[in-house]
Amino acid sequence: MKLIYNIGLLVGIQPEGVLRLEGADMARTGTLENAWLRIEDGRIVDFGKMADLVGHDAPSSVMPGSDRESIDAQGGMLMPGFCDSHTHVVYAGSRDGEFLDKINGLSYEEIAARGGGILNSSDLLNKTSEEQLFQQSMGRVKEMMEKGTVALEIKSGYGLCPGGELKMLRVIDRIKKSVPATVKSTFLGAHAVGRGYSHEEYVQAVIDMIPKAAEYADFVDVFCDEGFFTVEDTDRILEAANHLLTPKIHANELAVSGGVQVGVKHLALSVDHLERTTEAEISALKGTWTMPTMLPGSSFFLGLPYGRAKDFIQAGLGVALASDYNPGSSPCGDMRFVMAQGCIKMRLTPIEAFNAVTLNSAYAMGVSEQYGSITRGKKAALILTQPGWDLTKIAYQYQTPFIRQVLL
Ligand code: NIG
Ligand code: FE
Repeated sequence: MKLIYNIGLLVGIQPEGVLRLEGADMARTGTLENAWLRIEDGRIVDFGKMADLVGHDAPSSVMPGSDRESIDAQGGMLMPGFCDSHTHVVYAGSRDGEFLDKINGLSYEEIAARGGGILNSSDLLNKTSEEQLFQQSMGRVKEMMEKGTVALEIKSGYGLCPGGELKMLRVIDRIKKSVPATVKSTFLGAHAVGRGYSHEEYVQAVIDMIPKAAEYADFVDVFCDEGFFTVEDTDRILEAANHLLTPKIHANELAVSGGVQVGVKHLALSVDHLERTTEAEISALKGTWTMPTMLPGSSFFLGLPYGRAKDFIQAGLGVALASDYNPGSSPCGDMRFVMAQGCIKMRLTPIEAFNAVTLNSAYAMGVSEQYGSITRGKKAALILTQPGWDLTKIAYQYQTPFIRQVLL
């Protein structure tokens, strides 16, 4: 049993059974001032107001000091930890060699067309030992956990051949077993056409990899975008993965690709990126279980338009935000910065952005029954802040350290 008391502000309270937030509900979250919260076996069992806790009829099990593990929050804010539903943190080395090309004006597509980009990372990954890949990737995951991420999804997609893709999936699996954060695994064989294959041959190779990949992965992803994989390729791959892996799709980053519609058709749990969308994508998503997920870190790094989160919410949809942490378009896994960009660049209110990086991003990787809100029975995967912070301040003053402790 652990009691956290003197909590200045408890935020993110949701009733049991709320697995995502849509439309106007995104602007709301439950809060309690001057609160306590009790944890048992790693789960939130109860919370309430300090005034009730110190009253003479309070049960002794929730009295401060009744347990050695009690934490005096000293007026800090307690919030659910960040959930990052879209990352590529398993990669080898870095692509800082392309940073100058980018600065000098080459676009993401131009760098890729010159054999850089994803293929560059793929060459490096296939030369790197599995142990090295694990060590490098663990460094990034640890960095993310220190910054408050308690659940994350990780994709393959830099192997681009059966051996390399399986190596990545095994490394993700080993990370799953090595960290206290929850990790979900996605097979993204269709990230780029692997070296030595024709486009057609590679799509078939991806389809052939699916049964083996499904032994490790939770999800399947396709980079359905201009210059990468078509709607037809995506349709074939998702058809082959039907009943084995739930889709999460890269869509509409570089062009209005049709990726949203093909994802919705195959009951994708999320469609991600969405830097370029029209009213047709918004209509296609209405009334579906698919979570539109936007990645402001890649808009920032590549100079792309930001997703139209506000329009999606006004249309009654939910929005999740994730980091896209990867070497080519978003070399940063800081979800607090993602939340700040949601406010600064996408004009989300701090509460909307907070819901997008907690409950909705938990939903977008299938873990919102356990993560993403302060709810009795959910995992006590929490961020305790220094005194004086609230949701507005962590987005506004977006570089000042605010975390006192991540509870995992
Ligand atoms: O989500 N868009 C495709 N994949 C990644 C980038 C991967 C890379 O460039 O290494 C993304 O942005
Ligand atoms: Fe991505």
